[in-house]
Amino acid sequence: MTRYLVTSALPYANGPSHLGHLAGAYLPADIYVRFLRMSGEDVIYMCGSDEHGVPITIKAEQLGITPREAVDIFHEMIHRDFRSFGISFDNFSRTERPEHYEFAQQVFLDLLGKGFIVEKSMKQFHCDRCGRFLPDRYVGGTCPHCGSTKARGDQCDDCGTWLDALELVDPVCSICGSTPVPRDTRHWFLRLEAFQEWLEEWLAGHPEWKPNVLNYCRGWMDEGLRERAITRDLDWGIPVPVEGAEGKVLYVWFEALLGYVSSTREYFRMKGEPDGWKDYWQDGDTRLVQFIGKDNIVFHAVIQPAVLHGLGGYVLPWNIPANEYLNIRGEKFSTSRGTAIWLKDYLAHFPPDPMRYALAINAPENRDTDFSWDEFRARNNELADVFGNFINRTMKFAHRYFEGKVPEPGPAGEAEEALMSLARATRDEMGELIRGFNLKTACLKAMELARESNRYFDQSQPWKTAKTDRTACATSIYYSLQVANALRILFAPFIPFTCERTGVMLGREELHWNGAGGENLRAGQALGSPEILLQKLEEGFERVMYRESGEVSPSAETSVPEVREQVSYDSFMRMDLRVGRIAEVHHIKGADKLYRLMVDMGDHTRQLVAGLKPYYSAVELEGRKVVVLVNLQPVRLKGVESNGMVLASDDGRGRVRLLNPSDDALPGDCIH
Ligand code: MF3
Ligand code: ZN
Repeated sequence: MTRYLVTSALPYANGPSHLGHLAGAYLPADIYVRFLRMSGEDVIYMCGSDEHGVPITIKAEQLGITPREAVDIFHEMIHRDFRSFGISFDNFSRTERPEHYEFAQQVFLDLLGKGFIVEKSMKQFHCDRCGRFLPDRYVGGTCPHCGSTKARGDQCDDCGTWLDALELVDPVCSICGSTPVPRDTRHWFLRLEAFQEWLEEWLAGHPEWKPNVLNYCRGWMDEGLRERAITRDLDWGIPVPVEGAEGKVLYVWFEALLGYVSSTREYFRMKGEPDGWKDYWQDGDTRLVQFIGKDNIVFHAVIQPAVLHGLGGYVLPWNIPANEYLNIRGEKFSTSRGTAIWLKDYLAHFPPDPMRYALAINAPENRDTDFSWDEFRARNNELADVFGNFINRTMKFAHRYFEGKVPEPGPAGEAEEALMSLARATRDEMGELIRGFNLKTACLKAMELARESNRYFDQSQPWKTAKTDRTACATSIYYSLQVANALRILFAPFIPFTCERTGVMLGREELHWNGAGGENLRAGQALGSPEILLQKLEEGFERVMYRESGEVSPSAETSVPEVREQVSYDSFMRMDLRVGRIAEVHHIKGADKLYRLMVDMGDHTRQLVAGLKPYYSAVELEGRKVVVLVNLQPVRLKGVESNGMVLASDDGRGRVRLLNPSDDALPGDCIH
């Protein structure tokens, strides 16, 4: 029997998750998985955090903590935020678990034994100033393919190319900024070229994949596959399990991809079925469906199948529905560049479902899409007005006129037949669409049914018939309740929390996809009490998320200082104040109050030293917009040069708060 093994890209445990993550690889997978479960399919949904590699070590260095501390913090945070958003993983593992180490090392040795991995000496960038090799993101530079100046030693985010650091134009050491030089080192290589022919044939067998995925793969195949180093000179990661490989670890991508398998192994071991994973990974009836963002395509569609094929006997991806990016004002949400809306900030103020709905409709399924709070608000209000309102008015009538029970209907007329058959048609169409990964269109269909339900309600005028024709009124409420239940089912993959509450009102819990459109509620059945499911939002609602709280110490003395001596207009105008955005936060050795900040000023980046450590954690500062006095004379603090000042308010009692430029002000904007 067909079974589904669904995965979402393992998120790097190097920061909290933002809306771009959610919209790309997690929400779509969750919608798909929930639908499959409701359809009675055999499905498991595996994920976990990706805890090795340079993305982690760089983040830990910035935060002044160890990589292990960093991954512990962020693994928890990511898992909690996804759970709060209803992402229903069956297992969310970690690549730091011993089980994963063992499996990854065993795979390495297996491929080494089969001759698919070979050891070789190679040139790699070395920073003589820092005295170390510079793997992956430790080198920055210009992309040889698209010319972006933000390329890093592993990858160019702007064009999606997987790079070899040595290809970078104008390379710089990301730690100290000096120019690195290529030096000899030894590494292990995966002989990808050995799989070229097989891969081409295999890929040709999947013409149904999304065009973006096929295009990337075609590009790779046309260029010709080359061997790639799968080990690194780093002290954080999974040790290369070979003698004489001290100081070398497996390349994060090589082992993280194996995390899907080890997460499944862990899941079944915890269930007490240590061999259960084999049904999903080694049986030809499995459909492996992997949700990822477009920057991960080559790894999933080329490297991973090569590795699994090299091992032999493993299931290969059945589909890889990669998404494009969700942007904000045309720019990618990015943890490292600080242009993100964090899930935790949203969740602190708003329920998950409206965002799930808005992102499902505005999903970057086939092209990049842009997120805006206005669009979100429109979607939230639409959900409240159409879905929420229909459930609410139906429930109210059932309570007002039929004692909170499903009424006994008269015979169904044309309008009722039409409504119920539309519900069944919608169910079938949505099923097809979701199976084909057209989640956005499926969601629009559910909304269309909700609109039609409101139209039915309006046209049958139960508020009139309540007084003139009880049977007609009972019939409209009976069918409205049946279609409310259909909506509860059809919307469940998209807005599960709201549908669960709807279920409580309707007295139904079961989630059987095929039940939608049937007359599931029996006349006489008791209903729960009506409650408001969704709140509408006013313009500017999002401001609460950006407002800062800040602790006030009650015992401290207050002192409002006297207004100071007057200054002339001219002397004020000599101060050059601008909007900046904190791109990086670094600790300074031996300073417990100061941070070294790298601030994006629009046209340049500026280093500042600011005494913010007692008031803000580094994570809170990253990505924040601030007001900067840029023409202050440079000073050195703890030996570090500061080129300006970040402005903050101070209540004189130890409560220091940064000034917030308006949400739509951008780095480089002048202040006057
Ligand atoms: N951590 C990677 C990212 O966030 C994705 C890894 S997916 C895996 O881009 F398959 F390698 F695990
Ligand atoms: Zn350096």
